[in-house]
Amino acid sequence: MQASAPIVILGGTGFVGRHLVSRLSGSGHRVRVLSRNREQRPDLRLLPGVEVRSADVHDRQQLVAAFQGASAVVNLVGILNERGFRGKGFEKAHVELTRSVLLACRGAKIRRLLQMSALRAGEGESHYLRTRGEAEALVRASGLDWTIIRPSVIFGRGDGLFCRFAGLLRVLPVLPLARPGARFAPVYVGDVATAMTTMLERPKCIGQIYELYGRQVMTLAEIVRYTARHMGLRRWALRLPDALGRLQALVGDVIPGKPISSDNFKSLKLDSVGTRDGLAALGIVPTPVDAIVPALLAGGRHQARLDNWRGRGR
Ligand SMILES: NC(=O)c1ccc[n+]([C@@H]2O[C@H](COP(=O)([O-])OP(=O)(O)OC[C@H]3O[C@@H](n4cnc5c(N)ncnc54)[C@H](OP(=O)(O)O)[C@@H]3O)[C@@H](O)[C@H]2O)c1
Repeated sequence: MQASAPIVILGGTGFVGRHLVSRLSGSGHRVRVLSRNREQRPDLRLLPGVEVRSADVHDRQQLVAAFQGASAVVNLVGILNERGFRGKGFEKAHVELTRSVLLACRGAKIRRLLQMSALRAGEGESHYLRTRGEAEALVRASGLDWTIIRPSVIFGRGDGLFCRFAGLLRVLPVLPLARPGARFAPVYVGDVATAMTTMLERPKCIGQIYELYGRQVMTLAEIVRYTARHMGLRRWALRLPDALGRLQALVGDVIPGKPISSDNFKSLKLDSVGTRDGLAALGIVPTPVDAIVPALLAGGRHQARLDNWRGRGR
């Protein structure tokens, strides 16, 4: 049976959003996804109880209209790179949009809000983390029933980590890496979706910040080597000293799509590892990288290992 009032999701067409929407739909929730272009995700519209609406999420009037009758709002919008260089793009996507979401929640009388953020929000020199922190501060001061989610890097089918490196390694025999020693605690997208569904269903999650990370800490260079090994490729991760890494980022700044940017380089100065285990607090056992990624990279060769692990661990 489906709950009567829909959960509105901004950014629900992306990597995390697709998994979350599918999990919520599977749990019987009604979902209203707002997208700048609903035609790009026809598959989401086929899920039971899921409606995808085209909307300019930066327009407050459109947001108020789209929030009418909802039980909760989930803001997943985020960018890793902006078009320009001075942080204006980050401010628009993270801070201004969050401000609009908060005003629209008030306008449509919605109290419950889940705000996606990132580990180390508000720390360091990058516009990315600075604006994440500013958005969090607005949410915390809003007086709404908020929950903030701070994940490390997220892995799973279609991720921007192992799958992205896989694409690069397929064509590059040598991969020059800035900040190769930066540390991450990758968290499975399915666990993030389960965590967010739990947060929406449990009132005691209101007013909490959940750091979501896995148990295995890997450096950037280890992630690249792991990816190559499971693809059966002999590749070389070239560890760039900081001066060359900074130069690579400066070159990346002017390449369309910014494969790496100066702002990414600054974010990488901080390890993306947490200190308060949000998955444990929610009673979720983190899915290991080994249980998912080899199967993704080797086209099913490790499916048996995944099935085994799932059979034992759940
Ligand atoms: N993936 C990770 O490893 C990771 C780690 C930590 C935190 N996060 C955060 O988790 C959230 C979801 O990540 P993701 O990997 O699913 O991102 P994603 O695949 O890039 O999806 C984000 C969605 O947000 C919308 N969007 C993007 N730029 C926008 C803009 N300038 N204005 C308005 N809407 C915009 C897009 O939806 P439409 O095109 O349909 O409008 C897009 O589908 C983000 O906030 C991200 O920063 C992700």
